[in-house]
Amino acid sequence: MLNDLLARNVAWSRQRHAEEPDYFTRLAALQAPEFFWIGCSDSRVPANVVAGLDPGEVFVHRNVANIIHSSDMNLLSALEFAVDALHVREIIVCGHYGCGGVKAATEDQPHGLADHWLEPIRRIARNYAVDLGRQPDLEARRDRLAELNVVEGVRRVCETPILQKAWARGANVRVHGLIYGLKDGRLRDLDCSVGPGHFQSEGVIREVAQ
Ligand code: CO
Repeated sequence: MLNDLLARNVAWSRQRHAEEPDYFTRLAALQAPEFFWIGCSDSRVPANVVAGLDPGEVFVHRNVANIIHSSDMNLLSALEFAVDALHVREIIVCGHYGCGGVKAATEDQPHGLADHWLEPIRRIARNYAVDLGRQPDLEARRDRLAELNVVEGVRRVCETPILQKAWARGANVRVHGLIYGLKDGRLRDLDCSVGPGHFQSEGVIREVAQ
């Protein structure tokens, strides 16, 4: 299987080179993406593919259930580099419907280390129990929880000193919350975008908080 992968890589690099002879030379010289993507590790939600972006166009951090742990050095290092060094303009927190991490967080049986990782989702489920209780079935509740996890993630990204400092110095960087549908391949805007210095959709965040 590894040989298959390497053979596909050779075919891809040859095709890219044929289409644009200076493609790799250009990319090797400069990384200047507009986007920083924080998404789920799920193999069905690759940032570049679902957003229709080429190599070089999006800086990516992915983890199980796209959780923003405020002490996650991996995420914070990537976020700091994206904001302070790459000067990305758009930060996207992207969840997805049918997320296995969200599902695991709603189950009673133990999942080992994942239970520690997924704790913020269980906390969201407790805090938004009324909202979730309005959903017609378990799948809808989990999908709504995936949306709420994104909204919470946007809020947490905005609260980091990295974003606060960037906005204080006048950086024009915005944070958005999107959710991806595995069943239709579509990205949806959760309308919780935050721009320099203020929440642009406080009403939405207040609404889901009830
Ligand atoms: Co997932």
